[in-house]
Amino acid sequence: MRSPSHSDIQSVLITGDDLAKRVKELGDEISATYQRRGIEDIVIVSVLKGSFIFMADLIRHISLNAAVDFMAVSSYGAATKSSGVVRILKDLDIELEGKHVLVVEDIVDSGLTLHFLLKNLRNRKPASLELCSLLVKPEAVQVDLNISWTGFECPNEFLVGYGLDFAERYRNLPYVGILKPEVYAQ
Ligand code: IMP
Ligand code: MG
Repeated sequence: MRSPSHSDIQSVLITGDDLAKRVKELGDEISATYQRRGIEDIVIVSVLKGSFIFMADLIRHISLNAAVDFMAVSSYGAATKSSGVVRILKDLDIELEGKHVLVVEDIVDSGLTLHFLLKNLRNRKPASLELCSLLVKPEAVQVDLNISWTGFECPNEFLVGYGLDFAERYRNLPYVGILKPEVYAQ
């Protein structure tokens, strides 16, 4: 049975099967990279809420000792969004000093949110800091982020599903789809 939200989707961009396949590849690549460096323990930081489904799937393909923690951030509002000033709504429980930290994000759009976040995390003196984003919109990125692992490059459209929302809806769609513009123009 299809979710009622499905009728708001213009087209499916990435199917559930393609997501599963790519997420496994990412987990294998991430595990191999740390193992090659002789690192067995990492801290995975998930940026709420959008990354929760990706995170849940990804960690099951990571063959390292992985502690998991969550951070929630929000932009100060439309007027200041481009400044990249974000507010920390929920901070981490785990201390990062001396740890190998992997930040897991759902999507890099302008990149301003992550730019702020990474600067904040770097100040906590982790031994290393890497970034994995499921989706990247290359046409929208405004800052150089140095993303270690990217799942998919996407067109500059508004995407929902597999954790991504519009006004808290559509996160539970099992694929990534392009939202019909008339939905957010309303
Ligand atoms: P950025 O700071 O412009 O890179 O975007 C920050 C956040 O905006 C992302 O982590 C998402 O939560 C949200 N976002 C950006 N693009 C989309 C989209 O296409 N669909 C849903 N959320 C998005
Ligand atoms: Mg996000």
